[in-house]
Amino acid sequence: MAPSIDRYLLQRNHVASARLNFQNYVWKDALGYNIHPDLPVRNEQDYKIADVGAGTGIWLIDVNRQFPLVHLDGFDISVDQFPAKEWLPDNITLRTLDVFAPISEDLKGKYDLVHVRLFLAVVQNYDPTPILRNLMDMLKPGGYLQWDEYDLSTMELMTSKPGISTNMMRNVMEHFRFKLDFGWVSTLPTSFQKQGLDCISNYLYSPSNYIQIMLTQIHLMVAEEVSFVKMDNSDPETGGPARRREIQKASQEAKDGAIWHFSLQVTVGHKRE
Ligand SMILES: C[S@@+](CC[C@H](N)C(=O)[O-])C[C@H]1O[C@@H](n2cnc3c(N)ncnc32)[C@H](O)[C@@H]1O
Repeated sequence: MAPSIDRYLLQRNHVASARLNFQNYVWKDALGYNIHPDLPVRNEQDYKIADVGAGTGIWLIDVNRQFPLVHLDGFDISVDQFPAKEWLPDNITLRTLDVFAPISEDLKGKYDLVHVRLFLAVVQNYDPTPILRNLMDMLKPGGYLQWDEYDLSTMELMTSKPGISTNMMRNVMEHFRFKLDFGWVSTLPTSFQKQGLDCISNYLYSPSNYIQIMLTQIHLMVAEEVSFVKMDNSDPETGGPARRREIQKASQEAKDGAIWHFSLQVTVGHKRE
């Protein structure tokens, strides 16, 4: 089936890929795992894991180091960030899939674990339900769903010491808040329940300030990418170019000791037998 319109807000060039790869290890450092340790993963060839919206495939590549025998399939609406398949371990495949389109028969009920991470720029109309329905379709009865997300509604500005300017960090943060409603993230456990998942656990992580420095750098990069993809870049005085000048100033504030602080959330649910 042809993919639906790709409304992705971010870039897919080498810098965006480096951001995703770096971010994978920042998440792993903050959480201490890729797959929640309570999930009963079997390191066997017939145990099947899907990563939907896999980006560069980095989560699967890292999961493979822990579980080298499991069957790992990555899906994304775009192939632009996939590595050359010759570099991938034999048990990893990457292919296209639009998470909003009906799931093809060969993928229905196939997976013991379906994983999704960082869909803030993918969820439409602030409603994860259509995505959840499709992810449920991919799960075997008795399988698990793990969704990892930033809860940017908890975003606060912090400084390492008094007197540091935060005006531009605040402007960029307000732009995120004004443009996007992140309320669906904290209610994800309820959305899981409504789709029939049970044994739902919701884990919230408040990263150390050092990790938050890295997450702040990542979100400055995100703001810059959005300015290229979604803003008018035709006039050097306004739109994207003006936003990027603000981001440069915000970056200096971050270097001086300002950070954005927010929670990381991992929601896990079980599909009944
Ligand atoms: C912020 S990235 C996260 C990538 C990866 N999950 C990670 O954590 O490194 C979001 C990914 O979702 C993909 N995506 C966007 N719209 C999609 C859709 N309709 N179906 C499947 N993937 C989509 C993007 O191409 C991108 O690779």
